[in-house]
Amino acid sequence: MDFTATDKSCLTWTGDCLAIGLSEESLPLSGMLAELNQRLSGLLQDLIDEADFKGKEGTTAVIRVGRTGPVRKLALVGLGSSDHLKLESLRRGVASAARIAKREKCKTLGISFPMWNNAPARTAQALTEGVLLALHHDTRFKSDNEPNFQVEAVHLLELAGQEAALATGQRITDGVILARDMVSAPPNVITPLALADLATELAETYGLSLKILERAECEDLGMGAFLGVAQASDLPPKFIHLVYKPDGTPRRKLAIIGKGLTFDSGGLNIKGPGSGIEMMKIDMGGAAATFGAAKAIAQIKPDVEVHFISAATENMISGHAMRPGDILTASNGKTIEVNNTDAEGRLTLADALVFADKLGLDAMVDLATLTGACVVALGEDIAGLWSPDDTLADSLTTAADTAGEKIWRMPMEEKYFDGLKSVVADMKNTGPRPGGSITAALFLKQFVSETAWAHLDVAGPVWTDKENAYNNPGGTGYGVRTLVQWVLSA
Ligand code: BES
Ligand code: MN
Ligand code: ZN
Repeated sequence: MDFTATDKSCLTWTGDCLAIGLSEESLPLSGMLAELNQRLSGLLQDLIDEADFKGKEGTTAVIRVGRTGPVRKLALVGLGSSDHLKLESLRRGVASAARIAKREKCKTLGISFPMWNNAPARTAQALTEGVLLALHHDTRFKSDNEPNFQVEAVHLLELAGQEAALATGQRITDGVILARDMVSAPPNVITPLALADLATELAETYGLSLKILERAECEDLGMGAFLGVAQASDLPPKFIHLVYKPDGTPRRKLAIIGKGLTFDSGGLNIKGPGSGIEMMKIDMGGAAATFGAAKAIAQIKPDVEVHFISAATENMISGHAMRPGDILTASNGKTIEVNNTDAEGRLTLADALVFADKLGLDAMVDLATLTGACVVALGEDIAGLWSPDDTLADSLTTAADTAGEKIWRMPMEEKYFDGLKSVVADMKNTGPRPGGSITAALFLKQFVSETAWAHLDVAGPVWTDKENAYNNPGGTGYGVRTLVQWVLSA
């Protein structure tokens, strides 16, 4: 698909589908839109009247213009009140427009949307993201995967000169789509080895440096927590460390760490009926966001060094499985009594955090589909954020807001660590049910000593069963947009 930023307006553009973004306040028609209405012999006003279109967010109206007109289809997209026009409204609105264009078999799409906050670059980036996200359709695992109709060219009207922003939008979406497809792929395809191969491909394509630690090297580093989880699987674990280094001295050094459980059976505390075990391919959603961010950042090339880390394995059962009650020693020497083998993500992250903590970073963020408790607390659309560091927490919250992803800061309630006290070891890996996502975060904190750190529990938002403007049911790629925005603004 070809994207162009052009100085043409809705009055001068010609093509298959002209999509106009309208806020509630842009009615009744005035200025350029009134003129467009005149040129179309009142068709625009007719459409507004017949569809009872009021510019409400999430509403659309389409009409055929006719063979001789400058455009074949006219699509109106409501953006809500212009008082609180958000970038996310533009993304969602333009996504609806893109879906209409595809449905109506329009090869060319002209986007005439209002500018957000007098910021043409942000506007162009968000519009690009919305279109690309909406038009991605995953048919990899269907036997009948003939490509259906595709929109071929998208023109962003009155946004001439915004080529850089447009490219940023394309690169970010590249990363989001990678993460979506990784999460949607089944656990017999996305194995730890497949993650390692993907990292190799990213490294080769984008010039990242890569080190994959095999089991023996992880043993040498004393990663007993990670390897405890990995020991029941027939598939070898892979500790993946990708690095993006800018030319010249980096302004900051950051790390993104993703939980990479390619399947979570629960281990000997096996997931029972109603636990959603058949969905536990999504347990590498953190790693998917990490890889997606790597793909975007490696193309955008900011002056920041970024480490991308995932301790990838499965959580399986077998005669080699770790037992409930086993005591593991993590790579920082701390001992963990495994009172529940289904709390495996924090064990793998423990060693990944210790590893990252030694890299001399300014900050690090982990993303993990860590607890069902977080989904209970915040629902499926919102990620939980924990950090002892207010500056880091604020920068992530701001980044998420700009990126259009939902995040909510949760308390690091130190007193709750009492629930993880063990009689025999330094700590247990699970506490009582209440506050389960908080004790999980407190557990992780035991493995960080040097670095400003934040933890995102993304168990809810990495997957959706519902269709929305720019997401079909499946993986969402949650986290990529926030991470890229965070790296660019950090
Ligand atoms: N991967 C799960 C968490 C999860 C649940 C992710 C739902 C996505 C959707 C995690 O490893 C897990 O099993 N957590 C347990 C922790 C418990 C044993 C303390 C949970 O949430 O039940
Ligand atoms: Mn689990
Ligand atoms: Zn898990």
